[in-house]
Order: sequence, then structure tokens, then C-alpha cells
Amino acid sequence: MKKYLKKLKIGKLEVYPNIFLAPMAGITTKYFREILISLGGCGLTFSELISSEALIRNGRDSFKMMERGRGEFPYAVQIYGFNPEHMGDAAKIIEDGGYGDLIDINAGCPARKVVKNGSGSALLKDLLLFERIITTVKKRISLPVSVKMRSGFNTPIFLEAGKIAENSGASFITLHPRLRSEMFSGKSNWEYIRELKESVSIPVVGNGDIFSPEDGVRMFEKTGCDAIMIGRGITRDPFLIKNTYDFLKSGSYLSASICEKIEILLKILDAIDKNYPDKAKCGEMKRYSSYFIHGFNGASKVRSHIYLQKKSGDIISFVKKLYEKIKEEENCK
Ligand SMILES: Cc1cc2nc3c(=O)[nH]c(=O)nc-3n(C[C@H](O)[C@H](O)[C@H](O)COP(=O)(O)O)c2cc1C
Repeated sequence: MKKYLKKLKIGKLEVYPNIFLAPMAGITTKYFREILISLGGCGLTFSELISSEALIRNGRDSFKMMERGRGEFPYAVQIYGFNPEHMGDAAKIIEDGGYGDLIDINAGCPARKVVKNGSGSALLKDLLLFERIITTVKKRISLPVSVKMRSGFNTPIFLEAGKIAENSGASFITLHPRLRSEMFSGKSNWEYIRELKESVSIPVVGNGDIFSPEDGVRMFEKTGCDAIMIGRGITRDPFLIKNTYDFLKSGSYLSASICEKIEILLKILDAIDKNYPDKAKCGEMKRYSSYFIHGFNGASKVRSHIYLQKKSGDIISFVKKLYEKIKEEENCK
């Protein structure tokens, strides 16, 4: 399995290992990414999707959203939009400000507010525009440019789109093989990743439904992809990328204990407490708690209790007590 681990050369960047953290708006914030990177095994991280329109209008939130985390290198900033010139301007702002090491173009987001003006996965309905966006961004910057796409909007078009991305100078393509119309339903079609890999000569990153280290290995085996990208799986097990790396490297991995997962949750709660405005803290803490409080007796009761809290400080003290209790019961070190 070690044969699947490799260093990717992307422009001047050397990316290792070839296991990437997927961009997930509202989840893979700078703080969460920092915590995940510290666990190891992750070769490349991405910002949440950033609006090119907001960026060129100097939107403060967008600048904040694309900040690089501590020790985060290499780091890709992902942008979305429908206007090639504005996408080019946004990419230039990112390059000039040193915000990222790579620009990723979003051609996958299915959200209504993104597709309604022709951005995200809607780019797959207009391949001429898709092409103009990639070539314009490429022309404006010297950083490498990549594309993350779904298999199509209503019908599969990934082979045509993949060829266009390659011919327009993209350094790699990430494929999440679901149509926009499928949102997150059913299973992603890994066969499409294999077909894309066979039809282009730039690296292909396989994404979709990797929920265990074994899934990660299967993705490499079944598709021949050059790298894998993991998204939602990390919200149930923050150690998933680290464990997938260990599994690929040595053939075995140690599943994280509940204590270890709650330790990660405590770190996230602490980051939220230190960095978020007071009015946002409680909601954010509840959301992350709902991801990580799983897999032990009474977990759903614990989640319900957290949901009833009105003060962020009470959530932190409750999770700290829970941690001590589980640590004792489970005999965690
Ligand atoms: C809550 C959420 C937010 C997401 N935000 C983004 C985003 O900002 N940019 C993007 O390209 N994909 C986004 N995605 C899609 C993921 O990057 C990934 O392609 C998808 O979840 C499939 O991978 P998975 O099965 O490993 O989760 C998001 C997915 C989820 C669930």
C-alpha cells in the first residue's frame, strides 16, 4: 500500500503526502485546519470557498476567511465566481497578498445561492465560460491553478470538462463524482474518477465518500488517482487523515479513542472561544459538538444537553467534565 503514497509536484510546490483535506464551508475554518494539520498525514489544505466578487470589493469577511493557519503550507485558496475578469482579479489579490500557494477554482458547489448566478457547479453547464475562467486566472498569476468539480450539473460532463481544464493549464483536477442534482445523495461514482484519470495527463484527485482508512486505500486501488481528498469523514473522526496516512505507510493504524476525539473537540471549543464574536460562540460550539460527540453510550443525551446551553462557557465546562468522566471510565491515557 506504500506504493500509493507519493510526492506530487505542482508547479514549484512539492506536496506530500498525497492526502488532502477537502474544503468545507463552515467546517474547515483556519482554526479547525490548524488542529487537523497538527495531527499529521495531510499534504494539502484548502480554504473554504471564497467569493471572487466579494474579494474584489474588499469584503473584510472574505479576507479573514482565507487567512492561512499557523504552519499551513502548502495551502490552497479556493475561489468561485462567474466573471472571468473578476476571477482573475481575485486570484491576483491572493497571489500578491501571499494568501495562498495555489488557487483552486470551484466548479462543484451545488448551493442555490452559488449556482443561481452561474458559479460553482453551474460552470459545468457552460464549458466555454469554464474554460475562459481557467485561462484568465492562469494568465493573471504565476501560482499553480487547480480545479475542483462535480461530474456534471444534470448530466455527466466531467471528461469534456477535464480535458478543458488540462488544456487551459490546470495543474490538477479534483473530481467529486456526483452531479449537482444529486447534491450529497447516494454514492459517489468512483468509476468516473478512473475514467478521468485515464483521459488526462495531469494529476487527478479522487474525492467522495472516504469514511475510513480502508476506503482511502480502495479509492487509490479502484481509480488509479494520484491523490485522495477527504471531507465529511473528518467530522466524525478528526484522526481520519492521520490514520489513512498511517495505514498507507505501514499497513496498520490505531483507531482514536473517544477521549482523543473529545480532546480535539476541546481544542476547537477553545479556538472558538478565543476567536469568535460572543454572539456566534454558542452556535458554533454546538455545531462542532454535534460532529464529535458520537460513539459512546449516552452520546445523544449529551448532544441534547449541549444544545440546551445558553452560554459558551457552560458548554466548555460541560465538555471538560464529560472528558474527565470518559477518561476515567474508558481508562484513556
Ligand atoms: C458542509 C460542506 C461544505 C462544503 N463546502 C465546500 C467548499 O467550500 N468548496 C468545495 O469545493 N467543496 C465543498 N464541499 C464539498 C467537499 O469538499 C467534498 O467535495 C464533498 O463533501 C465530497 O467529499 P466527502 O464525501 O469526503 O465529504 C462541502 C461539503 C460539505 C458537506
